[in-house]
Amino acid sequence: MTNVLAINGSPRKDGNTAVLIRTVLKELEKVGIKTETIQLGGKKIYGCTACMKCFGNRDKKCIIDDDLVNTCIEKMSNADGIIFGSPVYFLDVTSEMKALIDRAGFVSFANGLLFKNKIGNATVAVRRAGASRTADTMLHFFLANEMIVAGLPVIGMGRDIGDVGMDEEGMGRAKNLGETMALLLTHLDRYPLPVQKPAKADERMTKKKK
Ligand SMILES: Cc1cc2nc3c(=O)[nH]c(=O)nc-3n(C[C@H](O)[C@H](O)[C@H](O)COP(=O)(O)O)c2cc1C
Repeated sequence: MTNVLAINGSPRKDGNTAVLIRTVLKELEKVGIKTETIQLGGKKIYGCTACMKCFGNRDKKCIIDDDLVNTCIEKMSNADGIIFGSPVYFLDVTSEMKALIDRAGFVSFANGLLFKNKIGNATVAVRRAGASRTADTMLHFFLANEMIVAGLPVIGMGRDIGDVGMDEEGMGRAKNLGETMALLLTHLDRYPLPVQKPAKADERMTKKKK
């Protein structure tokens, strides 16, 4: 069954990011796509320590195993679509979301692009400034992983919990993204992409310098 995983990088579990994510997922559920949301924001999440063990082990895991990141990596690997959601914090994603990007990104590179050809996009909750840059941080994760980005990211405006519901344009964009992802995923379910050989694991990090 087609499934989409959303990851909420906001520490406000039921805040504006959550409203945007739920709006996207509602459209997917309408066509029978299974959805799940992982609450990452507000949890104790370590940053990448540059130990490079993921390139040595190549076991699809980060060596740091006592936070949510390995669960995210496994669920992202098994999903057909991935949505990252973050509020803007000092003109960029939250630290929890950035930690996921760095660690899942390196684990993916070490293992021949774990998320290649999956459908992805991002939602951003913003009060005033930095939304495009925040969206770009998440979109670059998808692009670096050779995923398929389904149109523009969603930007919803608001400050206090629930404010984003009053941003008609932002809410409309969230619904729109859900519809686009639903269309693409339904199509790919019927006409899957040809099976490709897994990409070669990235050797650049482990190659000895001459
Ligand atoms: C630490 C922190 C930094 C923030 N930085 C920005 C910012 O740079 N630009 C902005 O427009 N809003 C900023 N905000 C406001 C949030 O992005 C905004 O309230 C958003 O709707 C919160 O979404 P949430 O309810 O999903 O957490 C910041 C909020 C916090 C707590």
